[in-house]
Amino acid sequence: MEELQKTFTRLLMQWNKQTNKRDMPWKGEKDPYKIWLSEIILQQTRVEQGWSYYNNFIEAFPTVHQLAAAPEDKVFKLWEGLGYYTRCKNLITTAKYISKELKGVFPINYDSILQLKGIGPYTAAAIASFAYNLPYAVVDGNVFRVLARYFDNDTPTDSNEGKKLFTEMANALLDKKNPGIYNQALMDFGAVVCKPRQPLCANCPLQKNCCGFANDKVDVLPVKEKKIVPKVRWLYYLIVERAGKTLIRKRTQKDIWENLYEFVLLEHTGAVTIDELQQLPAFKKMFGNTGFSINTISPLYNQKLTHQQLYGQFISITPAKKMLIDGYEEVDRKSLAALPFPKFITSYLKDKNVSLNLL
Ligand code: ADE
Repeated sequence: MEELQKTFTRLLMQWNKQTNKRDMPWKGEKDPYKIWLSEIILQQTRVEQGWSYYNNFIEAFPTVHQLAAAPEDKVFKLWEGLGYYTRCKNLITTAKYISKELKGVFPINYDSILQLKGIGPYTAAAIASFAYNLPYAVVDGNVFRVLARYFDNDTPTDSNEGKKLFTEMANALLDKKNPGIYNQALMDFGAVVCKPRQPLCANCPLQKNCCGFANDKVDVLPVKEKKIVPKVRWLYYLIVERAGKTLIRKRTQKDIWENLYEFVLLEHTGAVTIDELQQLPAFKKMFGNTGFSINTISPLYNQKLTHQQLYGQFISITPAKKMLIDGYEEVDRKSLAALPFPKFITSYLKDKNVSLNLL
């Protein structure tokens, strides 16, 4: 076992030096602020998607002080489309903390990095190893996959037992002299060679020692015990427009869209026709005493998130007279463009091909 472990680390580092051509804007970066920013963006986001966001953030906020001083809506606007907005909220909180309390100096040891809001063990290990070459292994689903295959281990990676086992393995394998290079190499190897689907076993430098390959188990590893059953939600958005004004609200619920804006929402457990929508008590409560005309009804939109399946439609509606709805505020349509909206809504706005300024 020990031999197999040593070989893993040696071959991985060799692959990295000789073959790994993966280039990314944050690779080799030593500034902990920039590393932190990249790692927060890359939590739950693919590299290809995160790439331009990282560059935009660095351009807009070259230092932590600039990020800390920015209006929050501006930061959320730059984050728009990335999803999981709690990450953005924590980014702002932590930037303010570092800028003010720590005078802009990023913490230099693992435990104090881990204390920062929005930073878990993976991100703390990435920052500590990339910025300061500290010996902490990054451990996530990608690392678990590589290890489950190489050691042909079918302990479910999402069980408590599996998490403990693979975490111990990951720490034992770490190249303690070059933890930063090792961690980035392992991330790259999991993304480029030992991919979730269609891994490149034929060209893999670890193939000869890979137990999963030898036992023809690569396709069935890693094993997971839980299947995610997404929650289905139907979102009907009323775009209430009159005299150049639109009703919107800022979401305050502690969910994936906290701090983003939205139009008047009627959420339902299933699909309804537009006629049925108008019979819903929630609709009648809003429009019961006011006449209205429906301008447009969008096609059906859908968006698949890890834990949710969203469907919905957008209905542009003009009340016969000025009206307000509880919890919503009236804004000038011109000011909508600067506000951050969930991707579900920006998809519609983009498809409509209407600049928000002209909506
Ligand atoms: N995912 C998380 N951190 C990453 C990094 N530094 N490089 C590539 N993918 C990542």
